[in-house]
Amino acid sequence: MTDRELVVVGGGVIGLTCAFEAAANGWRTTIIDRDPGHGAGWAAAGMLAPTAEAHFGEEALVRLLVAGAQAWPTFARDLARQSQIDIGFEPTGTILVAKDGGDRAELRRIIELQRSLDLAVEDLRADDLREMEPSLSPALAGGALLPGDHQVSNRQLLAALMDANEALDVTFLRDEAIRASWGSQSATVDLASGRTLRTGALLLCLGARTSLIEAAIGHLPTVRPVKGHILRLRSDEPLLGRTIRATVRGRSVYLVPRRDGELVVGATVEERGFDERIQAGEVFSLLDDARRILPGVDELELVDVSCGLRPATSTNAPMIERIDDGPVLVATGHYRNGILLAPLTARIIIGELEGTPDPASALASAAGSRGDHR
Ligand code: GLY
Repeated sequence: MTDRELVVVGGGVIGLTCAFEAAANGWRTTIIDRDPGHGAGWAAAGMLAPTAEAHFGEEALVRLLVAGAQAWPTFARDLARQSQIDIGFEPTGTILVAKDGGDRAELRRIIELQRSLDLAVEDLRADDLREMEPSLSPALAGGALLPGDHQVSNRQLLAALMDANEALDVTFLRDEAIRASWGSQSATVDLASGRTLRTGALLLCLGARTSLIEAAIGHLPTVRPVKGHILRLRSDEPLLGRTIRATVRGRSVYLVPRRDGELVVGATVEERGFDERIQAGEVFSLLDDARRILPGVDELELVDVSCGLRPATSTNAPMIERIDDGPVLVATGHYRNGILLAPLTARIIIGELEGTPDPASALASAAGSRGDHR
């Protein structure tokens, strides 16, 4: 065990981003994961959506999401210095649309909430929608432009993070952590292979699987899996220029276009525990909702159907902190906003490691203080 040595358990988007920032700051870093570069961030759509993800009663979380969005341009530049992989960071904004009068009433309530939180929202008439996105259904009732909600290509991001961590000599242990224990100065991780690691700083980034690691001393936050089905379709030319989020008969659906013609359609929100089966009915509903917004969906090639488990806490806010002033830190529970919050989470974790708390750690604590995280 040496100084400035960090072991990260979990190689999803949060673990990889924290490892990348730690290694860039001179920490000798090891990531433990059987299949790094995957996890919920692999299934995700890559939306960076502080405005569209603003929900009633979550004002403190929205402040954290806005700070998360502000951290993105610098992070994207830093990552581009270490990896040649284009992460498709597209600051093109998002359009919210309502299918009919009932959906429009709900949209109006959401827009009022967003404005009350000082988020940028511009009303759009049905004519504006047609002009901005000619492939949308002509039957839409109206919408709004969210100029601050952008996107990144999540799978390219994960690939770039793997690449950057390798370039910074981060060690990947393709193994599974089954137990963690700690005292005041050091922590121990037991691996499925029988190996044991001892470290002065242990960061747990296990997402929905946080509760599956046995913690011999202390306790870990309660995080539950919230399942989401998500589809990837393809056309030669993109059908859309911006992300579209819609409410269709009370259900929400989003369509995220990539430059290369991929269209990501998501996502269901299901409380089914650790169930990752693909279910035909959920795929059917997503496609049915998507084609009512974008009729051209019928002609697209369906290239990928996947499921992810969002890591949710009782407050919907993440937990990014050191446990009981000891050697263990957690960064988990990012629920619907893991990609958006990854750079800010890493900044907060580096601040903790270096003993110079980042101002955003107060935002994270405030967002999580509504309920009992543990
Ligand atoms: N961030 C979008 C989702 O969780 O479906």
